[in-house]
Amino acid sequence: MTGEFDSYPLTGWYPGHMMKAGRQMAALLKLVDLVVEIVDARAPLSTRNPDLRHILTGKPFLVLANKSDLAAPPANRAWQNYFAKEGETIRFVDARKNGTVAKLPSLWRQTVTAARNERGATRPLNRPLRILIAGVPNVGKSTLVNHLHESNRAKVGPKPGVTRTTQWIPLKDGIELLDTPGILWPNIKTKKHELTLALLDIFNDSLIPPELLAHFLAWKLLEINANVRWIDYGLETSPASLTQLLETIAHKRQFLKPGAIPDTQRAAISFIKDFRDGKLGRITIERPGFNT
Ligand code: G4P
Repeated sequence: MTGEFDSYPLTGWYPGHMMKAGRQMAALLKLVDLVVEIVDARAPLSTRNPDLRHILTGKPFLVLANKSDLAAPPANRAWQNYFAKEGETIRFVDARKNGTVAKLPSLWRQTVTAARNERGATRPLNRPLRILIAGVPNVGKSTLVNHLHESNRAKVGPKPGVTRTTQWIPLKDGIELLDTPGILWPNIKTKKHELTLALLDIFNDSLIPPELLAHFLAWKLLEINANVRWIDYGLETSPASLTQLLETIAHKRQFLKPGAIPDTQRAAISFIKDFRDGKLGRITIERPGFNT
């Protein structure tokens, strides 16, 4: 199955509100002690905003790889090593569950304290620690903010703080979250990057034909040698071609047009949905060492 996608033009989709969000980000950064960038654990680099670190100007910074329940555990470990070599901290979380999220506030405090100590700060911070959660669309920013708000809400103390236009959510242990997560936009340079984002539902996939996205997914699964149970689609081994895959899925799921013609578009849509829902297994589509 060919991995040639660069001949397809980029859609150039860039929603207007992203521009505004980008401008707001610089202003928000001034208000916070720590920035937490959320990425999708299934493609941690492709779902980053490459400009964010450059505009931080020395502000403490952490990366959270969310949706780790959908990512392959060995790939998570490989990414952890990759980020460590780059001198960055990445944590794998599932923003919907307490297990990994509960430890975040103490990690955030430690990070800010360490950065202050490094800068030679002698006095403790005598105000709440303020944190901005940022990331590209659909990586789970709101889920994390809401979860922390529900599970970690300060029992006593101030109501959500308001500083002119900015609202803060008070958590336990003197931590405040900016109540509106910062929306970033990835810098899409190649068709494969665009298709990766479309697969993860970050990019508006209505502009991409489902067969093309299914082709990219199938090719990717073969490239990374993902442990997919092809037999569930009625295939003895991995598919030899996209046509074979989509026609087999169409027959297996009774997606047939008049004359018993396989509806390959419907098959493509259901194949993509299976991936997004984790029905193909825990799959990290971007691995260190493979180009997107
Ligand atoms: P955003 O603010 O960054 O745009 O993302 P948001 O929190 O809205 O989350 C986007 C989707 O991802 C939501 O699903 C949410 O439930 C899901 N999600 C968030 N964190 C995780 C996670 O750790 N694991 C998994 N598997 N899913 C996660 P949705 O289908 O858009 O909405 P719904 O399912 O909440 O109705």
